[in-house]
Amino acid sequence: MESTADQASVVGEYDDALQALLQLLWGDGFLSPGGAEEIRRLLAGSDIRGCRVLDVGAALGAVDQLLVQEHGAASVVGVDVDPTMLRQLDERIARAGLSAQITSLCVAPGPLPVADASFDVVFSKDSIVQIPDKRALFSDVFRILRPGGRFIASDWLRGGSGDYSPEMAEYFRLEGIVYNMASMEESIAALQAAGFTDIEVFDRNKWYLELARRELDSLAGPMYPLLVERLGADKADHFVRNWRQLVLVVERGELRPGHLKATRPA
Ligand SMILES: C[S@@+](CC[C@H](N)C(=O)[O-])C[C@H]1O[C@@H](n2cnc3c(N)ncnc32)[C@H](O)[C@@H]1O
Repeated sequence: MESTADQASVVGEYDDALQALLQLLWGDGFLSPGGAEEIRRLLAGSDIRGCRVLDVGAALGAVDQLLVQEHGAASVVGVDVDPTMLRQLDERIARAGLSAQITSLCVAPGPLPVADASFDVVFSKDSIVQIPDKRALFSDVFRILRPGGRFIASDWLRGGSGDYSPEMAEYFRLEGIVYNMASMEESIAALQAAGFTDIEVFDRNKWYLELARRELDSLAGPMYPLLVERLGADKADHFVRNWRQLVLVVERGELRPGHLKATRPA
């Protein structure tokens, strides 16, 4: 499926093969890079102990498990548009004995069906990139946070402006996921427009470039036989091409993961 901007995520785009690949690279239950270590970095200086957390784009739920088990969140509502992935989240959370603290909520793209001022923290790990209207999203996040509540997210941002490069268009084509990338500046402006203060941003391009290069080396090298065994040669070769293109757009600085933090004034 070809990816275009200003389009909501398509349910089912994370098919079994893509989910399998991403978890081989990033760990069981993770569909974004960096695992527990990157969550630790994102939460450095942001204490969420005892907080009611809503996670936008929870997918398979390994992140939500960490928010409770490692970071002491009181509860997490994991929101996603994909019911199949949320079923896996529920199973994972039940196996971990955390169903009283972590629940899932399947939503349609658009305003979140949750009450005003009902969360202490809105969290997200590399999912906002899939939501086209950042201003609408951040206004909604502001609405559901209690006064003094915090927004803490990692997002896949873009460097540059205007049309995407041909390299980026080819990356989107290979990836087959609908991405709607905002720049760091656009994200800051959208947070300000929503009313947030104490906005902090942190570029993670350099970190991800090193990691993505290692991921490519692994996919094309030691992990390749396992990929062929699990997914077949065609898919394995496709994912190696996909990662070569990913490294290229991260190298160009056109794809730049970043951390975003902001506060709803008390
Ligand atoms: C790259 S995955 C990240 C998943 C998870 N946060 C993690 O780190 O493992 C992005 C997720 O965002 C979800 N998503 C896309 N559009 C969404 C929306 N409008 N609301 C909530 N989730 C959405 C996708 O279904 C997918 O599960």
